[in-house]
Amino acid sequence: MNILVTGGAGYIGSHTVVEIAKSGHTPIIVDDFRNSRESAVDGIESILGYRPTVHAGDCTDPTFVESVFSQESIDGIIHFAALKSVGESVERPLPYYQNNIGSLVAVLEAALRHGTKAFVFSSSATVYGEPDSNPIPETAPRKQATTPYGNTKQIGEDILRDTAYASNGLLRSVSLRYFNPIGAHESGLIGELPIGVPNNLVPYVTQTAAGLRERLTIFGNDYPTPDGTCIRDYIHVVDLAKAHITTLEYLFSEDVNKPAYDVYNVGTGNGTSVQELIETFERETGVKVPHTVGPRRAGDVVVCYADPGKMNRELEWKAEFTTSQAMIDSWRWQRNLWFTS
Ligand code: UFG
Repeated sequence: MNILVTGGAGYIGSHTVVEIAKSGHTPIIVDDFRNSRESAVDGIESILGYRPTVHAGDCTDPTFVESVFSQESIDGIIHFAALKSVGESVERPLPYYQNNIGSLVAVLEAALRHGTKAFVFSSSATVYGEPDSNPIPETAPRKQATTPYGNTKQIGEDILRDTAYASNGLLRSVSLRYFNPIGAHESGLIGELPIGVPNNLVPYVTQTAAGLRERLTIFGNDYPTPDGTCIRDYIHVVDLAKAHITTLEYLFSEDVNKPAYDVYNVGTGNGTSVQELIETFERETGVKVPHTVGPRRAGDVVVCYADPGKMNRELEWKAEFTTSQAMIDSWRWQRNLWFTS
C-alpha cells in the first residue's frame, strides 16, 4: 500500500514513516518544514537505506494537495500535519484554525476525489479536557476545549466522522487519541526536534541534562496526587508509530462490520508523575537534571492516563516499551544532536 504521511518529517510522523516501510508498505511524505527539518528525512534514509519520496508544500493549499494526489497512487493517509503548541494557540488562535482545519479539509477533499479508502487522524487526549476519572475510556465525554489547539482536535474529529459517514463506506477512518509521546528511535537517528525553547517535559529534561538549559521548572507540586506533581500517560513514540500501522491494516481489512468512523486511545494505561519521570531519567542515564519547583502552568490537567483496552482488544495493539527505555532513547537522541550540532 502507498501511504501518504502529512507532517511526515515531524516527530511522530518520521517514526511512523519508518514503521510503514518496515511493515512492507510505501510511505510518501508531505511536509512544509515549518516546524520540522530536512535532517529528519536524512535520518529516515539512514535507517531504511533509501530516501522516501518527499513532496514539500503546505497542506492547506488545495492546488498543492491535488498535485500530490495526481502524481501518486495513494491507498491510505495518515494526517499529522498541524500546529501543536498549546500555549501559542491561546495567543494566536487564527493560524491554528486556519492551518489545522484547513489542511484536514483540503486533504479529505482530495481523498474523496481520488477514492482513497483509509484515513487516520492525529487526535489527542486533550479532547477529554479534565477527565472525571482515570483511566479514561473512549466513551468518556469530550469536555469543552480550553485551548484553540484542543478545539481544532475536537473539530477535526467531527469533520472526519461526518465525512466518513457521508462517503457511504468508501472512506473508512479512525481518530487516534494520543496521550504523551516520548522517546526516540533506537538508532538515535530520528527524534523530537523542538524549535526554540521546548514546551514539553521530556525535551526540557534532556536539554537540561545536556547543559543547554540551566534548570527544569516543575510546574506545581501542590496537586492532589501522591507526590504533588501532575500525572500523565507517557507512551514511547515507536509504540505510537506502530499503532498507526495496526490501524491502517484494520481499515484495509475486509471486515464488513467495521464502522465508517471510530476513535481509539493510544496510551500505556500507566500514570507517571513529573517527579517520577525525572527520577527515572536520572536513574537510567546516571545524569542529574537540575530542577526547581515553580507555580502551576495555566490549563494543565491534574491526572490524565488512558484506558487502552479498546485498542488492545479490537486491534490487538499494546504498548511494549517501558518509560525507562523511552528515557534511554530520548537521551541517546539528545546526545547525538549535541555531538553533531
Ligand atoms: N511540565 C513541567 N515542566 C516543564 C514542562 C512540562 O513540569 O518544563 C509538566 C507539565 O506541567 C505537565 C507534564 O509536565 O504536568 C507534561 O507536560 P507536557 O507539556 O509535556 O505535556 P501535556 O500533557 O501538557 O500536553 C501533551 C501534548 C499536547 C496534548 C496533551 C494531551 O503536548 O499536545 O498532551 O493530553 F494536547
